[in-house]
Amino acid sequence: SHDATAQPCNPDLAEMVYGVGKMDYRQTALTFYKEATAAGDKIFVSKGEQATYNDAKLACTNAGGQLASPQNAEENKAVLDFCKMYKVFPYLGINDLLIEGSFRYPNGEMLSYSNWSDKEPNNDQGVEDCVEMYDNGKWNDKNCNEKRLIICEF
Ligand code: IPD
Ligand code: CA
Repeated sequence: SHDATAQPCNPDLAEMVYGVGKMDYRQTALTFYKEATAAGDKIFVSKGEQATYNDAKLACTNAGGQLASPQNAEENKAVLDFCKMYKVFPYLGINDLLIEGSFRYPNGEMLSYSNWSDKEPNNDQGVEDCVEMYDNGKWNDKNCNEKRLIICEF
């Protein structure tokens, strides 16, 4: 469908979705993206790649999105599904790099939802400014230099 009210499509996102065969997966991805953004929904994308926080952040912003930053239980579950599928903990976009102890979204806004694991965030060794998700969906602050699953949101 070509809905004139849909947000401008993101060709970079469609480039991430491809297939071999008779289906036009790129067009399907574009349509999916347009309909989801028009409905005000988020799309989460992962190719299963791993990177440090800075490289993961760059991969998402280069694609026109940002690192997954779940803002409610439903979005947290969507991120958890990727975590389980790839059997790798992801980095979230949430961090306290700007102000120690004040975890925020990539745009600097304060959190409206959190799902910290028991006794977290603990800033272990004084070096944990990024956030990983465990395979139970709970969050742990972690140093930013590990290799973690890249999940972007659009
Ligand atoms: C640490 C622990 C701790 C958590 C830290 C981790 P480690 O792992 O799981 O509970 O708060 O973020 O780095 O260093 O004991 O393998
Ligand atoms: Ca921690």
